[in-house]
Amino acid sequence: MKSSTLPNGIFYHGDCISVAAEHLADNSVDLIITDPPYGIHGDKLHLHYNRDETFVVEGYVEIPQEEYATFSTNWIREAERVLRPGGSIYIVSGYTNLIDILNALRQTSLTEVNHIIWKYNFGVFTRRKYVSSHYHILFYEKPGGRRTFNLESRFGLIEKSNEGRSCNNADREDLWIINRENKPGQVKNKNELPLRLLTKMIQYSSNEGDLVADFFLGGFSTARAAIGMNRRAVGFEISGRIYDTKIREMATITPGYLLPTLRTPAIKGTRNFGRPWTEADRIRLNRRFDALRAQSRSKKECIAALGEEFGRGRWGIEKALKK
Ligand SMILES: C[S@@+](CC[C@H](N)C(=O)[O-])C[C@H]1O[C@@H](n2cnc3c(N)ncnc32)[C@H](O)[C@@H]1O
Repeated sequence: MKSSTLPNGIFYHGDCISVAAEHLADNSVDLIITDPPYGIHGDKLHLHYNRDETFVVEGYVEIPQEEYATFSTNWIREAERVLRPGGSIYIVSGYTNLIDILNALRQTSLTEVNHIIWKYNFGVFTRRKYVSSHYHILFYEKPGGRRTFNLESRFGLIEKSNEGRSCNNADREDLWIINRENKPGQVKNKNELPLRLLTKMIQYSSNEGDLVADFFLGGFSTARAAIGMNRRAVGFEISGRIYDTKIREMATITPGYLLPTLRTPAIKGTRNFGRPWTEADRIRLNRRFDALRAQSRSKKECIAALGEEFGRGRWGIEKALKK
């Protein structure tokens, strides 16, 4: 078993069940986002999909169908143990072995929050039946604590579309239409999750500094998004080939690099809402932040105080501080 410690992340090459048992403490993780092997010969998926696999990293480890139920029970029990009370877990699953994942979840204390359908842009080629083009995302929580759900992290409640619909409501419907990324010419894992899907789960279900775990790192897309959004990340990948390729890329990531790319939601009740920041505002904000921090106040307290002082929402303050 190898491990690598990077800024804001620790990653293990090994089996998620045994390595988590050894290295992850009970109740230590705020959010799990994970995409287990499918149990449908994911290592041979290229035979079904019509796409160029030239840049896909070899070494994907599949779980034999006959072991899938036991395997799911074992890793989901481990996920339950490490999740903090009130922590959230999102499991991405195809429909073929969904029943095993649902049965495994039922054997734990984890409770359903939403069953999300993720519709993506390409499907398995068929002639005599419909084309499968969705995944299931099982969003569960561990009871016993307050679950993070940042209601206005992406769209304020006051924001309306051109048709007059609530943007916040539309974003929180349980059908997510998000295309997979093509990434031509880039080295990738089979079926890497798109960044837009990951940022959505991370924004709603965690805060900066939280620990986000992925039991099946694959292309490390969850870890990359988490660190990019200033969360901490931990994860496991059993394939040495994939681990070695991806860990090199991870070492080049700057924590927080994705934050400036996220939209600032419009939130009601902030007197300067919508007013552009001037350079002078930003300088004053940063000086005030340093002064408050010098009084040993936590980052969260400082941001709340600055929100009042500057008449801005929390997201606006965080974004202006980053710049
Ligand atoms: C569906 S892929 C994950 C894809 C990933 N979410 C991404 O966006 O790139 C599943 C990964 O789990 C790995 N894997 C299989 N069994 C494992 C185990 N017992 N422990 C850790 N990783 C495992 C596979 O090698 C594969 O890379």
